[in-house]
Amino acid sequence: MLWTILLLLFNGLLILVYVYSSRTRQKNEPPLDKGVIPWLGHALEFGKDAAKFLARMKDKHGDIFTVRVAGHYVTVLLDPNSFDEVLNDTFCLDFARSKKQLLQRIFCLQLPSIKPTAERKWMEQHFQGLSLSKLSSSMKAHLQKLLLSDQTDCQPSKWTQNGLFSLCYSLLFRAGYLTLFERIDDAPAVYKEFRKFDDLLPKLARCSLKRGERKTAALSRERLWELLSPKGVSFRLDSNSWQQSYHHFLQEEGIDAEMQNRAFLLQLWTTQCNTGPAAFWLLGFLLTNPEAMEAVKSEIRDLTLQHPLIHPLEAHSTPVFDSVLSETLRLTAAVMISREVVQDKCLRMANGQEYHLRQGDRVCLFPFLSPQNDAEIHLQPQIFKYDRFLNEDMTVKDTFYKEGKRLKYITMPWGAGTNVCVGKEFAVTTIKQFVFLFLTHLDLELCNPEDKLPPVNTSRYGFGMLQPDGDLQIRYRLKKTQPEM
Ligand code: HEM
Ligand SMILES: *[C@@H]1O[C@H](CO)[C@@H](O)[C@H](O)[C@H]1NC(C)=O
Ligand SMILES: *[C@@H]1O[C@H](CO)[C@@H](O)[C@H](O)[C@H]1NC(C)=O
Repeated sequence: MLWTILLLLFNGLLILVYVYSSRTRQKNEPPLDKGVIPWLGHALEFGKDAAKFLARMKDKHGDIFTVRVAGHYVTVLLDPNSFDEVLNDTFCLDFARSKKQLLQRIFCLQLPSIKPTAERKWMEQHFQGLSLSKLSSSMKAHLQKLLLSDQTDCQPSKWTQNGLFSLCYSLLFRAGYLTLFERIDDAPAVYKEFRKFDDLLPKLARCSLKRGERKTAALSRERLWELLSPKGVSFRLDSNSWQQSYHHFLQEEGIDAEMQNRAFLLQLWTTQCNTGPAAFWLLGFLLTNPEAMEAVKSEIRDLTLQHPLIHPLEAHSTPVFDSVLSETLRLTAAVMISREVVQDKCLRMANGQEYHLRQGDRVCLFPFLSPQNDAEIHLQPQIFKYDRFLNEDMTVKDTFYKEGKRLKYITMPWGAGTNVCVGKEFAVTTIKQFVFLFLTHLDLELCNPEDKLPPVNTSRYGFGMLQPDGDLQIRYRLKKTQPEM
């Protein structure tokens, strides 16, 4: 009896909340889809598989609609020809505030005294020109050393078996860490802790950690702060590392030691979380598409034959590899570009339709659905085609259309606008070096030739590169003769 009364009261309360929190679509506003659960709206479906959910909404409402997600109203725009309307507007739309909240939530990081533009400028300086070529050659040396030293315990003719994802992530993380942070011996420990943290990060961002996980995440974060702290760690004597330089920058901005460590963890995550997974998908696609693998290998062979004395990678274009990389990122890069509406805005779509956006709402672009997986733009978008971005004459294919209009954005793995990836060139060079090193130094094959790539982990949409749900078992051994790279 008591339970029935309580239940009725509870239901009544829900209905009240529902009525008071209700919002209706006004004319000139995008279609509104609140979901049935009060306040939460579509949050559960969104967190579980954002791509599936948004594709369903796109089918139902078209290229623009507003959904309720955990108390927020989010207008999702899926027409790439209209993206500039959002990306160019820095007056009505703001990215700094929600980014700040996210940094606080995930990294416990507050840098109120640093202007975002100042930090951005620092980053840009340190990932281009001379800095970039120094980083790239250091990265290459570390990769080569790690790859070969990981092999010393087995004879050249003996196969080693491993998961491709673990292998790529571990190698690229350690090499990247050694390059940017120049720490001598703790790379494996940092990697281990980092993976724990990275695994929980999407849940941390969405506040959906379970109690045990919350503890693990907090412990892991603290351990990483400690590991990254400059205190008591021996830098190389001649070290003038990226991290030291960043340390200096923070110091000059008056950031205290504790916040500095937290900023280091943010930078560690930003610079290391994407490259390993990207290399995994690329090699995975090659291993499961023999024709693509042969095309890439043949391109490498030609380069080394034609130009045995110069470094083939730096000196020559690699159109086949570039197309394979673009195609890989098209299928597996899933950034969400989000802005807060700080002033009512009229959004004018490419087709002339105008929509009113309310102050306090959010706007979100999700390029993974469109342009990247839009059947109107890319034929059979779910299929890996290594030459999708290649013309007959081996030049880059970059003309694609939607509704008869040529697209400016064909894929957007690096984000866009004010916070587009500053490490793009470095990342591309690194992935290229890594893949070429692999293919020229190792014999590499699937353990089971019938194996397919694992599916993606659907809880990571919106956090940059996707990760697999499971792994792909491979075996590899050092080639008998080692070519010069
Ligand atoms: C395949 C590899 C990579 C991908 C797909 C990628 C993608 C991205 C994306 C989408 C953003 C924007 C995030 C946002 O909108 O908030 C971003 C930001 C950033 N990336 Fe990358 N990234 C990659 C590798 C790298 C590497 C290797 C570095 C440096 C070593 C790097 C450094 C940065 C930095 C510093 C930012 C922050 C820029 C800012 O906040 O203004 N990235 N990256
Ligand atoms: C947005 O800015 C870009 C680059 O500044 C410019 O080429 C483009 O025409 C602008 N688009 C709109 C819709 O304002
Ligand atoms: C999928 O990703 C989430 C968030 O990173 C993680 O907690 C979970 O363990 C992953 N699942 C698998 C099977 O890897």
